[in-house]
Amino acid sequence: MKRPSAPVLLCLGLLAALAAGCGKGEIAVPEQASTRQGAELFYERCAGCHSLDAANSFGSKPEGDIQPGERTNGPNFNVRKVKREDVLFAIRNGGFSGAIMPANIVTGTQAEEVADFLDKYSGKGSSENQTNPGTENQP
Ligand code: HEC
Repeated sequence: MKRPSAPVLLCLGLLAALAAGCGKGEIAVPEQASTRQGAELFYERCAGCHSLDAANSFGSKPEGDIQPGERTNGPNFNVRKVKREDVLFAIRNGGFSGAIMPANIVTGTQAEEVADFLDKYSGKGSSENQTNPGTENQP
């Protein structure tokens, strides 16, 4: 009982490696991309109610689930394409209905970063459910 230090040190070392290496989620947007900040904000603030693979977020009703789902299940942005202005509107007003989603979860520049990110990454289809790619040229 005099030398507990070796295992303890080993544990500390492993913890440090974990914190440095694998602590982060798997946001698909590259670190240097201009939309990276928006992806991280989405992951932090919106992931509870919305899904989007690129932001490692799964808050919408699971795909293929035929149950009615939770009241807070917001649209799945793998499937739903949203434009920058729509996102800014939804953020300011709390979704389109104003009933469930809280307004102004992000504001100012942060709101714009999230909007730019969604404008670019929403509607691409998820890895498990590829939607048809021919919808890009719709107005
Ligand atoms: C508490 C759950 C909740 C959170 C958190 C949340 N949302 Fe929502 N959101 C919803 C729900 C539910 C709807 C659908 C009902 C509505 O539009 O009012 C919605 C609708 C939307 C819409 C409209 C999409 C469409 O096409 O109908 C957008 C855009 C949106 N949210 C973006 C965001 C962003 C960006 C964030 C983070 C800053 C966020 N939401 C955080 C629940 C949430």
